Amino acid sequence: MISSTLSVSARSLLRCIKRCPPSSRNVRHMLGVDPGRFYYDRATAADDRAVSGVSVSAHTVDLRSDTVTKPGTAMRQAMAEAEVGDDVFDEDPHVNELQKMAADIFGMEAALFIPSGTMSNLIAVMVHCRERGDEMIVGDLSHLHVYEQGGSAQLAGVHSATVTTLADGTFDLDQLDSKIRHGYPDAHYPHSRLVCVENTHNILGGRVLPLSFLRELRSLADKYGLAVHMDGARLMNAAVALGVHPSVILQPCHTVSVCLSKGLGAPVGTMLCGPKDFIQKAVRARKALGGGLRQSGILAAAGKIALTDMTSRLEEDHRNARTFAKALTQCDPPLYQVDLAAIETNIVRFRLRDPGLSPTEFCELMGAVCEGEVETLGQGVRVLMFPFVGDTVRAVWHLDISEEDTQLAIKKAKFLAQQYSIKKA
Ligand SMILES: Cc1ncc(COP(=O)(O)O)c(C=O)c1O
Repeated sequence: MISSTLSVSARSLLRCIKRCPPSSRNVRHMLGVDPGRFYYDRATAADDRAVSGVSVSAHTVDLRSDTVTKPGTAMRQAMAEAEVGDDVFDEDPHVNELQKMAADIFGMEAALFIPSGTMSNLIAVMVHCRERGDEMIVGDLSHLHVYEQGGSAQLAGVHSATVTTLADGTFDLDQLDSKIRHGYPDAHYPHSRLVCVENTHNILGGRVLPLSFLRELRSLADKYGLAVHMDGARLMNAAVALGVHPSVILQPCHTVSVCLSKGLGAPVGTMLCGPKDFIQKAVRARKALGGGLRQSGILAAAGKIALTDMTSRLEEDHRNARTFAKALTQCDPPLYQVDLAAIETNIVRFRLRDPGLSPTEFCELMGAVCEGEVETLGQGVRVLMFPFVGDTVRAVWHLDISEEDTQLAIKKAKFLAQQYSIKKA
């Protein structure tokens, strides 16, 4: 009964909405104030859109992902001026320099520039699991398992066994032990070769793996001769959250994949790092997958800036994410449910207390300018978020989201909670 009343209310609220297309972007450069911002264009534009026949200014706050950032003037300039060579011949100076920098930063022997995180994880799996019948063990909620189209089976012929991902992104090591095949070379069993972990954990809302878990995992892996690969797409967020150098996190790992195009904001690129012989094999796998790029120094020039200049500002994303999450818990009327202890980095996952309002409907409302909004908030605010795994909503902070944007997103969330309770009453 409640549910049907609420969904009618939600629908009527939806009917009040005029959708606005994404705002155009103003360029605001703040060199000297916040170096990170200099490398990016910020979403500060205000579009004029008609809502109920009135011209309004709508500001967009894009919290869909930390992949949405766009390179700003300094990054574009570095790209435009990059001296290039043919990287398939190892002749691109910026790629070579970026790979050396990455190996040093991540405490690995060598590194390789790869077009995407998905390809980098796939190459890692292909190199660690080289024989037909090899198997990897992954968390059941890992990006590798859920979002990479089963590429390791589809393209590399590698079988996956899963362990249950726990709320903090770890898994139970006894369960892992039970999944390791002890029967090999008995012809019934695949050969367990690899364990993959994800840090920070995307689906679980940017959770940071505890160092103790990684150390214990490595001991277990060593016991059975397994390799440990970390999908560290957001490793730098983990390092900032823990206050340690990324190489400390990676000590128990044989290889790692770190994305330059998420929190670090490069337009393209992932660094795959590991021992020299692993990277030599990875070069071959990358070529087979069509990822051997030619004058990719244009991209590596941006990647170098991402690695050197962009980590220090991640703390700001974490702070803004926490501010938002805290405000949701304090919202009156209480529409949102957030586990504050789980907000460790730049991702906030929350639930709607009212089953009558689905995450999809909520995201549509947040992304539109609603009736009465301009009068209440002083402007239209479009906050873009994704409905996410387990009936949650996910919001991700990044370079293009300022403290002011965060406050606007809070105001919008509070406005919707009030409107929703009024329409429900
Ligand atoms: C944890 C994790 N790993 C891997 C990837 C894949 O990266 P890409 O989009 O560059 O393929 C993502 C993308 O969001 C991710 O969140």
